[in-house]
Amino acid sequence: MEHAVEVREVSKMFKLYHENVRSLKEKVLFLRKRGYEEFWALRDVDLDVEKGETLGIIGANGSGKSTLLKCMTKILYPTSGKIVTNGSIAALLELGAGFQPDLTGRENVYLNASILGFSRKEVDNKFDEIVAFAELERFIDNYVRNYSSGMYIRLGFAVAISVDPDILIVDEVLAVGDESFQRKCLDRIDEIRDSGNTIVFVTHNVDITKEICDRVIMLEGGRIVKEGYPKDVVNYYHQVMETEEEASERGNRKIEITAVQLLNDKGEESKDFDTGSSMRIRVFYHAREPIGDPVFGFSLDDYRGFTAFGTNTALKGTRMGTVEGEGIVEFDLKSLPMLDGRYLVSVAVHSRDGEVDYHWLDKYLPFEMHSDIDDAGLLYVPCEVNYLSLTEGASLL
Ligand SMILES: Nc1ncnc2c1ncn2[C@@H]1O[C@H](COP(=O)(O)OP(=O)(O)O)[C@@H](O)[C@H]1O
Ligand SMILES: [Mg+2]
Repeated sequence: MEHAVEVREVSKMFKLYHENVRSLKEKVLFLRKRGYEEFWALRDVDLDVEKGETLGIIGANGSGKSTLLKCMTKILYPTSGKIVTNGSIAALLELGAGFQPDLTGRENVYLNASILGFSRKEVDNKFDEIVAFAELERFIDNYVRNYSSGMYIRLGFAVAISVDPDILIVDEVLAVGDESFQRKCLDRIDEIRDSGNTIVFVTHNVDITKEICDRVIMLEGGRIVKEGYPKDVVNYYHQVMETEEEASERGNRKIEITAVQLLNDKGEESKDFDTGSSMRIRVFYHAREPIGDPVFGFSLDDYRGFTAFGTNTALKGTRMGTVEGEGIVEFDLKSLPMLDGRYLVSVAVHSRDGEVDYHWLDKYLPFEMHSDIDDAGLLYVPCEVNYLSLTEGASLL
């Protein structure tokens, strides 16, 4: 089956030129070749948008959402990879893009609609509807340069939806209008969707995607990091945003934790673990002087700060004696019971009485749990079902 949009291994690089060449030496060094850095706004993005689907794209500021939409609408071209679109496209990109400030609202409606492929007569027929949707009856003959941002958006949206495109691409537009206009747009998007058209929808207000999208992808640093049902991707987005808080460190570092590794059941370093699989937490330390009887420990916390599990060498009855120089402490977790979600590992070494912190690494290493189990909750509990009918005088015994 043909897709509405096919994105194949698309990467987009921007050249960031060095503006401030401060010293003469730098000037001489950059004289021949003007210095620039490569910045990859999109990396290896692969995506099919199904016909008739409403696809949401979410991600933090700067994650590449607008760049991806601009590549879909051919305002930008990918540095590598390719994009195929099937059907007519109307795009509502940035605020007021496509409007001429020195023309009136009326003239801009005709100009925009003709760019989208409409004849004058077709626009004549739709004109009143467009203006009514935009609620701009009183202002339609004013110059667009005098419009507020809300008026820009209302007019842009009204034009884009009036052309009944096969594919409607909307970028962050709803962030601007007031709430009643947003509601109206969402209702209209619902109608467009119900009539079988394809919608690609970018928004900051990720919870809206749960309401209107069939599927959501999340971008991070120009890559797709999550794709699936709106509920799941939006939950993941919230988890990532809430665990962004900085990892923190404390302690006198008489024993320093120099590295921490998470190993999967094949003994390889990993950040992805399946429910029920094992995890080895390997802690590398360096004791700068002989230290008697330290305690090493860890905890696994979810994004809300809830500790799923934690223990330490003292609780496990291990006495390490005096440590000096470099060494390794390993914790073998036989089976991880957590269902899907993002977790952070904290690691610490302190004195046996808990009075002295040698080194704490709080919320240090992230990892992700994956499962295809549909049971609800945070943890997997093996559960069997038995049943027996108690009619006809049978009993459980
Ligand atoms: N024309 C450009 N030149 C250089 N960098 C750009 C350009 N357009 C976007 N970028 C950079 O690419 C990254 C992604 O931008 P964008 O796609 O607008 O992100 P988003 O819409 O998710 O906020 C940002 O870091 C942005 O600064
Ligand atoms: Mg953007």
